Amino acid sequence: MADETIFKRLKEDHDKHRTLLDLIDKTEGDSEGRRELFGRFKTEVTAHAAAEEETLYATMLADRDLRHEGQHSVAEHKEIEDYLEELEEMDYSSTGWLARFRTMKDRYLHHIEEEEDEMFIAAAKGLSDAKVKELADKFEKRKPDELERAA
Ligand SMILES: [Fe+2]
Ligand SMILES: [Fe+2]
Repeated sequence: MADETIFKRLKEDHDKHRTLLDLIDKTEGDSEGRRELFGRFKTEVTAHAAAEEETLYATMLADRDLRHEGQHSVAEHKEIEDYLEELEEMDYSSTGWLARFRTMKDRYLHHIEEEEDEMFIAAAKGLSDAKVKELADKFEKRKPDELERAA
């Protein structure tokens, strides 16, 4: 994976997240499917966001021209984390659960679209080719640790 950029690598995760969100959206009540898929989504997104912050966003925050964009995304990570914790505590069988899930889903889809359409493009302009490949390698190394921590 030596030639992969951090942007391509992150987009691969985002596509997985989109699939999981659609699958969770089709679940009903306090079912094993809903619990299993939501648990997987929460662990995966928590680890993704942490590894993303340790690589791409750490680099953006250290760059005067990219700092503002980076801060915006990191703030959205916190917002999503709060939604995920709230959903985990809620009664999975209540109608409110799916309504809340869909609010989180909309926010998360907005977040990853903004990353792909704005953040990555801004970062790609400001960072060297070597740097975006180095960040992909670093992400690949950090992600398993973060998955373990999030599980
Ligand atoms: Fe993110
Ligand atoms: Fe992301």
